[in-house]
Amino acid sequence: MAKLKTLYFCQNCGAQSAKWIGRCPSCGEWNTYVEEVVQKADTQAAGSWKPPTAVAVGSNKVAKPRPVSEIHFEEEARIITQDGELNRVLGGGLVPGSLVLIGGEPGIGKSTLMLQIAMSLHRLKVLYVSGEESEQQIKMRAERLGDQHPGCYILTETNTQNIFKQIDQLQPNVLIIDSIQTLHSGLVESGAGSVSQVRECTAELLKYAKETGVPVLLIGHITKDGSIAGPKILEHMVDTVLQFEGDRHLSYRILRTTKNRFGSTSELGIYEMQGAGLRQVSNPSEILLSQRSGESLSGMAIGATLEGNRPLLVEVQALVTPATYGTPQRSSTGFDSKRLQMLLAVLEKRSGLRLGQHDVFLNIAGGLRLDDPALDLAVCAAVVSSLNDVPIQGEICLAAEVGLSGEIRAVSRLDQRLTEAEKLGFAEMYISQFNARGLDLKRYGIRVQPAGRLDEVLNGLFG
Ligand code: TYD
Ligand code: MG
Repeated sequence: MAKLKTLYFCQNCGAQSAKWIGRCPSCGEWNTYVEEVVQKADTQAAGSWKPPTAVAVGSNKVAKPRPVSEIHFEEEARIITQDGELNRVLGGGLVPGSLVLIGGEPGIGKSTLMLQIAMSLHRLKVLYVSGEESEQQIKMRAERLGDQHPGCYILTETNTQNIFKQIDQLQPNVLIIDSIQTLHSGLVESGAGSVSQVRECTAELLKYAKETGVPVLLIGHITKDGSIAGPKILEHMVDTVLQFEGDRHLSYRILRTTKNRFGSTSELGIYEMQGAGLRQVSNPSEILLSQRSGESLSGMAIGATLEGNRPLLVEVQALVTPATYGTPQRSSTGFDSKRLQMLLAVLEKRSGLRLGQHDVFLNIAGGLRLDDPALDLAVCAAVVSSLNDVPIQGEICLAAEVGLSGEIRAVSRLDQRLTEAEKLGFAEMYISQFNARGLDLKRYGIRVQPAGRLDEVLNGLFG
């Protein structure tokens, strides 16, 4: 038995030190060092992932530099899952040998999503390792999801050495781990979920994935501030980081890429949590707008935004009421509150609206969080509509950025936004005059209203 040894680890970057230090010399964060027990394993015999002999021999070779032109690679076939939204965020399917981390708040549906994917990979052998739930619990969930797949194996185990033993026997094509924080490796002494454990377990899985070409999907817990729990190094080690988010009380869930070595990070997948699992939402605008009743209400405007490469029409809701207390409140959900403040200041200064004595509440319907500047104009329109208590009549939507001097600025990929709005039956769209240049407006079945200044739009909308 090796001697027990403790080390201090930075919870932020995973740096280690023999004694406690107040400020991490590596990442500069204060007060992040925590003591953990580490014990060097006597030998590798305790058994992390041991590659098959052929690979072991190959990997003992010393790497030599080679000209990039001489390196050949065959584009390895990605595993295309039945889940179109997941394929999209992964950049076109699951890459063999990749390590994918999925983070999200408790109860958002990470386990459900992963089990659903495990069940849908019909021609493959999938191993779902859970350290969080019992076999019965997983079976119950699988029953709920309906689709049964005989090639999906469940293993409730948290010790990585035991997991690798089972993997060796089963030889799965895809491995799912729920969750990385519950795993522990016999090579490190500290408790599951600690920095050194998370790092060691991820390193073992990484080695396994790279040497066998089996893609590994890891579920990760997140901390209170929304980052993935454990050292930042975890995010550096994996190939792809996905965030599963949404309001737990609403049924929409968004799968967002924050890092992807094999594709773009601007992609977005949308799901709806239903009684029998997650349903892919391939046409999100229809759902986001479906709750509108026939009559127009004041304080509502439709913005044509773009999330990733997908055009989305969203409802912006504003409520402007006289402030009862001295300092007026500004509160926004789903939209940057600093940006809201700025837009209110522009409305006050450039359009002469008296908002200083009013509380302003802003909400993006459907629980979405958006940061597309093209929503600016819709936000201004919703605020003015609520302030004057005049609804925006007709099937109108807006897409433009508002500048500090009240000018209407152009937005990217207007063509996509116009096409989506037209598809959803909108009759009119307000855009920047700079966007209108060089655009063949007659091509669209929607009336385009180019504007140069905020006042022009407000006059057009409210007369
Ligand atoms: P879960 O996948 O356990 O979340 P996580 O792993 O991220 O903690 O999701 C649990 C929630 O999803 C729970 O509140 C119940 C709900 N749910 C449904 O609404 N429909 C379903 O078919 C399933 C399986 C779960
Ligand atoms: Mg779970």
